Amino acid sequence: MKIVKTIKELRHLLPEGESKNKTVGFVPTMGALHRGHSSLVQRCSRECGVTVASIFVNPTQFNDKTDLARYPRSLEADVQLLQATGCDVVFAPDEKEIYPQPDTRLFDFGLLEKVMEGERRKGHFNGVAQVVSRLLDAVKPDCAYFGEKDFQQIAVVSEMVRQLGLPVEIVRCPIVREPDGLAMSSRNALLSPDQRAAAPLIAKTLFAAVDKVCSVDLPALKQFVASAINANEHLRLDYFEVVCARTLQPVASLDDDCAKQACIAVYAGEVRLIDNVRLA
Ligand code: PAF
Repeated sequence: MKIVKTIKELRHLLPEGESKNKTVGFVPTMGALHRGHSSLVQRCSRECGVTVASIFVNPTQFNDKTDLARYPRSLEADVQLLQATGCDVVFAPDEKEIYPQPDTRLFDFGLLEKVMEGERRKGHFNGVAQVVSRLLDAVKPDCAYFGEKDFQQIAVVSEMVRQLGLPVEIVRCPIVREPDGLAMSSRNALLSPDQRAAAPLIAKTLFAAVDKVCSVDLPALKQFVASAINANEHLRLDYFEVVCARTLQPVASLDDDCAKQACIAVYAGEVRLIDNVRLA
């Protein structure tokens, strides 16, 4: 496995244009890797000739600077995990390499970014689009792999790829969970023992909502989820939304005729955890 820090070194290593004889797969990450990331890398290396993973904690997607400062960083362990999971090239640039000048581009994702994470974390998806477009431009992959825990991120990145006409397939990969159900996230490392013990209630409540969907209406489902989460002293519900899985717009009723996704964000102290599940 090769580790490079510059786009020039990366381009030197990767096949391109006429000489290209292998497909290139890409897994963008912010490091602090876990089994969710390994599953993306493993799938990428099964499906592509060359697997590239990036490690870059992108400042432009953090609307809260203390969140950026405390974001977990573990480069050595990350490199070991990538080595063990079949990654061929690690791209670990510094900030100047990705942003030689400040990126002032403003994307417009319409209603996709007006709900849930986009509504609460102003500028977050603009920052994600800035960095992902730069990384895609550097790696020039045929396929890029994203985990469905960040359900809205996949919708926004797919829309960005469509708007910019980028020749890359966005591959959605299922959420990987801890044995107790908690969705894998780099932020789980920030939980205190009490918060960690409480956190599986998030997935448990989502799965209970799936079981209830045929027997209650939308307000009752929302009430059930809010009560279940807020009853735990270590958790506080930020939002629970049932949205159309394609447009991400909240449904008016559980009888709406579309594939529905139940999406949740919960605070455990200062740590914000998100999760989602298909409802019907
Ligand atoms: O999902 C993430 O880890 C990040 O948002 C991404 C896609 C690597 C962009 O910084």
